[in-house]
Amino acid sequence: MTFNFGSQALAKYVLMDSAPVQPINFNHKVHAGDNEIPCRYCHIYASKSRVSGVPSVQRCMGCHREIRKDSKEIKKIHKHWDEQTPIEWVRVYDLPDYIYFPHNIHVNGGVNCKDCHGDVKNMARITRAKDLVMGWCISCHRERNGSLDCWVCHI
Ligand code: HEC
Ligand code: HEC
Ligand code: HEC
Ligand code: HEC
Ligand code: HEC
Repeated sequence: MTFNFGSQALAKYVLMDSAPVQPINFNHKVHAGDNEIPCRYCHIYASKSRVSGVPSVQRCMGCHREIRKDSKEIKKIHKHWDEQTPIEWVRVYDLPDYIYFPHNIHVNGGVNCKDCHGDVKNMARITRAKDLVMGWCISCHRERNGSLDCWVCHI
């Protein structure tokens, strides 16, 4: 295999950690798996807008004002709440800025989170399940009647 670092996306794939360490040890398996909290309880914009959104500190506090409030990781959440600062989560999936990717159209069109993000319910730490290359978008669009027009994704 040859690496073409002229390709922004490939260079990024090679250089970016596919499962970065997060500032708080948030565990999807504990929340979405064991405790069955629905994805969209936290990612509230997935069916409404282009982005899915990551939950606010307030959303965490809704449960963690009490749940495990004495744990070291939960105290970090309380500190953000007291200081009114956002948690600086590290992005796992990130396309180049010239690409238009709307979550709402996919989610409302019947594509599941799992088809693109893998088995998140069983991930302690989020690991990128797919390489974000054009061929991935195109092959699913071929299969499921998504558009193949360049200008739909290239803005
Ligand atoms: C709907 C309720 C709910 C919400 C919202 C929620 N959590 Fe949790 N969280 C839980 C439950 C339940 C556990 C498991 C507690 C246990 O095992 O005793 C947990 C466990 C944790 C733990 C492990 C704590 C430890 O030391 O064992 C961390 C860290 C954590 N949550 C972070 C977060 C963050 C960050 C947010 C916001 C993005 C969040 N949680 C939102 C219910 C919630
Ligand atoms: C209790 C809240 C909560 C629930 C429920 C939850 N998530 Fe998350 N999710 C988060 C937080 C906080 C982050 C940022 C930290 C991280 O990446 O682990 C995140 C990050 C992600 C990311 C990576 C975003 C990026 O590119 O940086 C994906 C993908 C994701 N979640 C998908 C899901 C799916 C699919 C489900 C349901 C199976 C789900 N989440 C359920 C809180 C939640
Ligand atoms: C068709 C594939 C696809 C589906 C379906 C999908 N995602 Fe994504 N998701 C992506 C891509 C691609 C990105 C990176 C977007 C970017 O950088 O503009 C992303 C980014 C994210 C992010 C981080 C950035 C943001 O948009 O806030 C979260 C969180 C996320 N997805 C959660 C979810 C959840 C939850 C679902 C299901 C309700 C879901 N995704 C469904 C492909 C998908
Ligand atoms: C797992 C399948 C799947 C993957 C992967 C996927 N898509 Fe899609 N996409 C679809 C489907 C199905 C539709 C049509 C949804 C509808 O119209 O109901 C769609 C629609 C779209 C639309 C709206 C097109 C229009 O006509 O307005 C855009 C833009 C788009 N996708 C961009 C992307 C990009 C960019 C990627 C890769 C980063 C991607 N998609 C990956 C299945 C997928
Ligand atoms: C379904 C969405 C989608 C469609 C349709 C699409 N592209 Fe792309 N394209 C992408 C994504 C996502 C990337 C960024 C990831 C990558 O470089 O593979 C990309 C990257 C590219 C690149 C590489 C840019 C670089 O920096 O290396 C070129 C060139 C390109 N597309 C041309 C086209 C042309 C020409 C068409 C029409 C025939 C087209 N694309 C249709 C999603 C799409």
